[in-house]
Amino acid sequence: MADVAAGLRPREPLKPKQILRRWWTSPVSLCLRMGLRAGGWRTPLAGVLLLLGAGLPALEMVALGVLVSSLPATIHAGFSSAAGQKTIQALAFWGALMVLLQIIPRIRTAIVTAMGWRLDSALRQRTMAAVNRPWGIAHLEDPKVAALISQTGGIGVTGYTPGTALNQLINMRIGVTLSALISGALLIGYHWWAALLLVGSLYAFNGVRRGSYTRMAGAVVGQTPGVMRAEYFRNLALSPGSAKDVRLLGIGDWIIGRLRAEWQGGLAERQKAEGQAFPLTIAGSVVVTGVSGLIFGLLARDAATGAIGMGALVVYLRAASSLGALGQSGAADSIIAHGSAAVPAILELERRTAPPPGPALASLPPSAPARDIRFERVSFTYAGAATPVLKDLNLTIPTGQSMALVGLNGAGKTTLVKLLARLYDPTSGAILVDGIDLRDADPKDWQKRIAAIFQDFLKYGLPARDNIGFGGLAMAGDQAALERAAAKAGVLERIQGLPAGWDTPLSRHFTGGADLSGGEWQRIGLARALFAVEAGASVLILDEPTANLDVRAEAELYDRFLDMTKGLTTLLISHRFSTVRRADRICVLEDGAVLELGTHDELMAKGGRYAEMFTLQSQRFVDAGASA
Ligand SMILES: Nc1ncnc2c1ncn2[C@@H]1O[C@H](COP(=O)(O)OP(=O)(O)OP(=O)(O)O)[C@@H](O)[C@H]1O
Ligand SMILES: [Mg+2]
Repeated sequence: MADVAAGLRPREPLKPKQILRRWWTSPVSLCLRMGLRAGGWRTPLAGVLLLLGAGLPALEMVALGVLVSSLPATIHAGFSSAAGQKTIQALAFWGALMVLLQIIPRIRTAIVTAMGWRLDSALRQRTMAAVNRPWGIAHLEDPKVAALISQTGGIGVTGYTPGTALNQLINMRIGVTLSALISGALLIGYHWWAALLLVGSLYAFNGVRRGSYTRMAGAVVGQTPGVMRAEYFRNLALSPGSAKDVRLLGIGDWIIGRLRAEWQGGLAERQKAEGQAFPLTIAGSVVVTGVSGLIFGLLARDAATGAIGMGALVVYLRAASSLGALGQSGAADSIIAHGSAAVPAILELERRTAPPPGPALASLPPSAPARDIRFERVSFTYAGAATPVLKDLNLTIPTGQSMALVGLNGAGKTTLVKLLARLYDPTSGAILVDGIDLRDADPKDWQKRIAAIFQDFLKYGLPARDNIGFGGLAMAGDQAALERAAAKAGVLERIQGLPAGWDTPLSRHFTGGADLSGGEWQRIGLARALFAVEAGASVLILDEPTANLDVRAEAELYDRFLDMTKGLTTLLISHRFSTVRRADRICVLEDGAVLELGTHDELMAKGGRYAEMFTLQSQRFVDAGASA
């Protein structure tokens, strides 16, 4: 709002260098330059067609002028006369130009449209690369980054992309301007000041209007959080995943109402900016119409008095009206302003996710972790959170053994393993692997050594082959290894029984797709982690791997647990003590630190928190058994 008002106030005049700099770094100029690069070989071709297309209308006007001025003599002397021959030649030339005038813009439009698609595709890839570049995930939880990501997909309620902006920039702004100016230059032959006056008034008018579109685009960018909320409601209403709850709770109409409110909120600021620019736009059109009227009036007078001939009148009238096209680019200007506004968002996203400059990273020994992993006085607070989740935590995770992490909801178990997987770095303290601070080690190298199934593991709507193969892309084609992992997780038969076996998409969204139950999915997730182990990972993280398994499946799995995790450094998080008790060591987390540490028997003998939780859970089963 303040920005819009500021934009309408007269500003200090800028020096030419500043104007050039401002233009060079403007979203429109960035969008144009990126588009020209993305176009590849299409760019010079579009340039040639643009120049041809721009010059042809002027040539056509002159040809028509020659044709019209030759007509009286031809009418008088007939087509076989010299004048008649001249008319026929002029007609043929004019006809050829008309055909070219039809063809060239069509080819150019097709080429420029392809350039726009290529630009959008290149920018989409840059966005994805930028978002995926950091090894951690903290940036994805930053609302500012989320807003930037949303803007890169098209600006707010308008949805215009840089590709659509590029299309309008080349075809309309550059194409129409060039052709109007070249044709308009013919008006100089009449009165140079008339040409100058018309072009000057049109440019002033365009300047005002473009400024207002830029402010409107700015207003739309400012509404991104509202648009993101609207998108959230839209997904809620449309996604199969939320359909059950939305129906049973009867909140469908409420969601649609919220969507409408957010959408209208997103439009309101833009409409305000549009309203403020309206008086200036009207004043601009009045001036342009006045100047055009004056020129047309003068032409009519000069034609009536015979000061200019019919041919010249046709040429000047058409030249003046073709200049008028400069003032009719409103829709294009709006698309250009809104579409190109996504470009700075992409650049800002790249800036935010660029790797920080620092010393070269140490490579971990190929055998790491060969020694115990140590958490030394590790504290961690999530960005924007008031209290730390982990406080000065000290913990030694023995290599080649299994350790279970237990604790109440929110104790920080998942957070601890996310730190170990280097999805975040500690706020203070250090995690040491073979004596090397994880912060100094190559994160990608470390993450390759980790096989994990998280509590909220991803269910890819892709075949089981991919769902499990993603655990170790390098050997995803190894069918025997895939089958071994699936068999260990107890899901091999289920996969083989699917309509297209390993190639059945695990989503009803796709033709021929199948869906699995919660427990079956969990086995797929587990198989993925076990496949990562097949591919060479040496640290296994299992965060609630059995939460969805029935009692028999869990028992079966854990009978094989020791076998599966033999020689691996395994961190197991579970609320099921039947699972936990099998781990070599058990760590009880409370208040962000280690409260108890030991084997099942040691901790039971101690009679502390673990013994209390274990007894409580087994008591429930005993009670349930007694009352059955
Ligand atoms: N991405 C996040 N951003 C901010 N806070 C978070 C984030 N993830 C978790 N938290 C908070 O950190 C605390 C610890 O969460 P964590 O998921 O580590 O608990 P947990 O011990 O795994 O719990 P549960 O047994 O329920 O899985 C919780 O209070 C949670 O709200
Ligand atoms: Mg958890």
